[in-house]
Amino acid sequence: MAIKRSGNSDNSASSPKKTSPSIPSETDHLLSPISTPQEQGKSEDSIRPHSLADYIGQQDLKDVLSIAIGAAKTRQDSLDHLLLYGPPGLGKTTISLILSTEMGVNCKITAAPALERPRDITGLLVNLKPGDILFIDEIHRLNRLTEELLYPAMEDYRLDITIGKGQSARIRSIPLPKFTLIGATTKVGSLTSPLRDRFGLIQRLRFYEPQELALIILRTAKIINTSITEEGATEIACRSRGTPRIANRLLRRVRDYMQVKKLDIITEELAKDALNIYQVDTQGLDWTDRLILQTMIDQFKGGPVGLEAIGAATGEDAKTIEEVYEPYLLQIGFLHRTPRGRVVSAPAYQHLQLT
Ligand SMILES: Nc1ncnc2c1ncn2[C@@H]1O[C@H](COP(=O)(O)OP(=O)(O)OP(=O)(O)O)[C@@H](O)[C@H]1O
Ligand SMILES: [Mg+2]
Repeated sequence: MAIKRSGNSDNSASSPKKTSPSIPSETDHLLSPISTPQEQGKSEDSIRPHSLADYIGQQDLKDVLSIAIGAAKTRQDSLDHLLLYGPPGLGKTTISLILSTEMGVNCKITAAPALERPRDITGLLVNLKPGDILFIDEIHRLNRLTEELLYPAMEDYRLDITIGKGQSARIRSIPLPKFTLIGATTKVGSLTSPLRDRFGLIQRLRFYEPQELALIILRTAKIINTSITEEGATEIACRSRGTPRIANRLLRRVRDYMQVKKLDIITEELAKDALNIYQVDTQGLDWTDRLILQTMIDQFKGGPVGLEAIGAATGEDAKTIEEVYEPYLLQIGFLHRTPRGRVVSAPAYQHLQLT
């Protein structure tokens, strides 16, 4: 299997670009689900699982994908187009790489912001081989022209190119090999319905349970040659916001602490000490999460309050709050969404030791 990362044609080696507002500041990198530039290279690839059996958790998704793989192989056909949605860092890119390995085909990785001009997408499509996977990250950000080129490509494996301009314009159709489009998005609601309807499978990735994250941490520790006890892994898992990318990042930081302390195994005690120094609390909240909750309580009586108001009062960008902080606070039940705005819940008061 060959893995190609492609951007637009004049920048073919680029990895998917992440653009603001999702880029976190230096201080909150530790608990951001968005990958840092260092993580996008070899270090992340080396710890990625390469088979469905190695992919921990997301059992429902794995069941659906095993059937899809089995059926496609039996029919000697390509996989159905697949739309994966869910918060960042839960393993969408990993799943597409696994699917390409399991199917024995190539996987081309790109992201919607790299597909600005029509020729960016046509260039990728005409170079596909039968069965290949084309992975488009942040697919909700495709522009209209690119999206319209994808409709016949997905449905009839045909590329419709307009040649010429004005009255003499003609449409030329180029046949494409049968391929699989995998789209990934954190915002499935922002997809247009014609695009969404062209995916045979639409699957959600959910936050991981601490037990699943502990298994991921034990697996990564083995790969990076670090000794860790099960309790140590569980301690890190509980503070990882349900997200494998954060779990792996915290593991590396705890390993740094272990090495500086000249110790040779990560125990529960050591993990606790290290994560306390990094100010990651027992629920995986950091300074900004606590600031958001505290501000909502102090200035808005716990809500309901709108995102813009929370943003203005905390000095954080409202979009960043919505995309980076809020999903996990909602997931653990510290925040609720109501038609009139966000509300802080009782468990959050308990966690902050307030009444
Ligand atoms: N189920 C899993 N088992 C083991 N490791 C995992 C699993 N899911 C994700 N990971 C690890 O977590 C990291 C992030 O995964 P990945 O890059 O696939 O996330 P993503 O959903 O594509 O993120 P983004 O939304 O930022 O593109 C990778 O290093 C991968 O190794
Ligand atoms: Mg990804």
